[in-house]
Amino acid sequence: MPEVPVIGNGDVTSPADARRMLAETGCAGVMIGRAALGSPWIFRRVEHELRTGGPLPEPDRSERATVALHHARRMLLTTRMPVRRAIRELRGQLLHYALDPSGQTGVRDALVRVETPEELMALLTPLAKEGPNPVAAP
Ligand SMILES: Cc1cc2nc3c(=O)[nH]c(=O)nc-3n(C[C@H](O)[C@H](O)[C@H](O)COP(=O)(O)O)c2cc1C
Repeated sequence: MPEVPVIGNGDVTSPADARRMLAETGCAGVMIGRAALGSPWIFRRVEHELRTGGPLPEPDRSERATVALHHARRMLLTTRMPVRRAIRELRGQLLHYALDPSGQTGVRDALVRVETPEELMALLTPLAKEGPNPVAAP
């Protein structure tokens, strides 16, 4: 009988979840869905922690905004949607990057109102440029 590798999936939102699923089920690998939305670095965090045993900190707001900006640019460059629809789609996708400091909603409030690529770039670019900062991810 050939061996069929089984991939574990469902509710993995942290390196600890991935470690637990691997240990408890003996699965060959772990797949991550929802927790990667707005948090694509979850894969490097899981890989790092499984390999070294130590945590990799969450990226700060500047790095999150840089990736959100890249996400938006790539989407707008490659989509076949009309621009207005693409922007509406992006609003929902980019909310996952949680760009507000804890307890604030200014970026979120602005994001759900952007109408054009120019407005979106004007909102995200200053955040991406602000450099390393101590704002912890929520
Ligand atoms: C954006 C997104 C798209 C998905 N697309 C599919 C799909 O096309 N087919 C599928 O079988 N599951 C799809 N899923 C489900 C995931 O593969 C996964 O089974 C589910 O999200 C549970 O894992 P999670 O707790 O890590 O999100 C999708 C999930 C997300 C978040």
